Amino acid sequence: MHRISDRFDPDSVEWRRVVDSDSEDFKIDFEYSLLGYDLPSGRLDMLLRFAGNGGHCRRHRHVASTVTLVLEGEQHVDELQRDGTIKSIVRKAGDYALAGIDALPHLERGGPEGGTVLLSLQAPDGVLFEYFDKNMKNRRSLTIEQYVDSWDRGIVPGGRKAEAAQPSVWGGFSRIPS
Ligand SMILES: [Fe+2]
Repeated sequence: MHRISDRFDPDSVEWRRVVDSDSEDFKIDFEYSLLGYDLPSGRLDMLLRFAGNGGHCRRHRHVASTVTLVLEGEQHVDELQRDGTIKSIVRKAGDYALAGIDALPHLERGGPEGGTVLLSLQAPDGVLFEYFDKNMKNRRSLTIEQYVDSWDRGIVPGGRKAEAAQPSVWGGFSRIPS
């Protein structure tokens, strides 16, 4: 077990910012912080923070079972349903959610004043997320080991090679075509 941070305090953890100016259909701009993980049990805890600038994380879906707790502001999720429609979800500070494995793809951003979210992920097979392009193709998986290795090396997990050299790009969202 590895504990990176002793506090959930957004003012004391190490934040890494992800910006991807190549995204055409939505803005990718967010921050994340690794709090701790446990490889044998498939556990990873992290923080996700959005400014109130419309920035999202990459288009993704959670493969791990996920506890979500909104610490500050709001979390806005646009979830692609199996029938092709979009379900919009808004969670406010203090809201709690629990999702099982094999969740639906979505885009994620903060509210008008931004948002900070605790994500506690339980991955039975070690896979945390899958990422997709705007056509929902070119699926890429991100495991706990890949996430931690990227954190330790100071690069952004889940990003394309070219993006890894930039300040950021990690697991996220983009606008899902309707
Ligand atoms: Fe998500």
